[in-house]
Amino acid sequence: MHCPEQYLKNNDMQRKDVENILNVYFKKMVWKSNEIVLDIGCGPGDITSDILYPLLKDKINQLVGVDKSIEMVEHAKKTYGCSKMDFKVLDIGNANDCSFYSNRFNKIFSFYCFHWVQNKVDSLRSMNLMLKSGGELLLNYLLITPLVELYKFMDTEWQKYIKDIKQISYVSYSKDDMREIITKAGFRIINLESSVKQYTFPDLSTVLNTLKAVDELYNYLPEHLHDRYAAHVKEKLFEAQMVKVCPITGNAIFMCVPITVHAIKD
Ligand SMILES: C[S@@+](CC[C@H](N)C(=O)[O-])C[C@H]1O[C@@H](n2cnc3c(N)ncnc32)[C@H](O)[C@@H]1O
Repeated sequence: MHCPEQYLKNNDMQRKDVENILNVYFKKMVWKSNEIVLDIGCGPGDITSDILYPLLKDKINQLVGVDKSIEMVEHAKKTYGCSKMDFKVLDIGNANDCSFYSNRFNKIFSFYCFHWVQNKVDSLRSMNLMLKSGGELLLNYLLITPLVELYKFMDTEWQKYIKDIKQISYVSYSKDDMREIITKAGFRIINLESSVKQYTFPDLSTVLNTLKAVDELYNYLPEHLHDRYAAHVKEKLFEAQMVKVCPITGNAIFMCVPITVHAIKD
């Protein structure tokens, strides 16, 4: 997930989903003037800039997008940086670096990032620490990470590469676990929702490209194996029943389990 251009070409699902989530939750948040807002795991910055910023621009002093990937932050900064919007490198799992932002933000947003975060308990504590009292968190991610599920189905040949991947979280928390760790991190949960959702893509190759854009395995795999690995991913997606293709329209239905949490630091 270090290639901003590849991610930008393949993030329609994420963009639509974030729009839908903000349509529901933005009006439920309490807004004052001159707020300072954080977007964690901003990636290449398009969602921060095209979707979040238009909603916020009259309410805020500053919107800060952070990401652990230097490449993503550099892209976001040069493409979208302006007086009210800045982008910085920050690993939300690094409590020490996060402490620099103690009591800094009125709101924290995070979309499609938290499933990659390895130390979820400490990261939630850092989010709480970075919020001002009365600050709100809107966290959305995939409760079950599709690629992690898919890796479990893969043949032995690929397992030796899978075990090298560093940017991945294999620890899975249920909806109830999440409720508990978010509360323990100091938040009062206003709403927590999660259920199986079906996303419709125009065709199967769009699903495959969406997955490829976030599949770290490609960084560990010799180039001559890329095509064979891609074919294996396709086969296993069907075997794991994560995708269905409509024989009439060709549309591909991709199954996901997103979770959205709206919480407050009292
Ligand atoms: C799939 S992208 C999501 C980007 C954007 N929020 C969106 O919804 O399109 C996930 C991003 O999370 C970032 N990320 C993963 N772990 C992180 C961490 N521990 N701290 C900060 N960013 C992280 C990745 O570098 C990547 O850019």
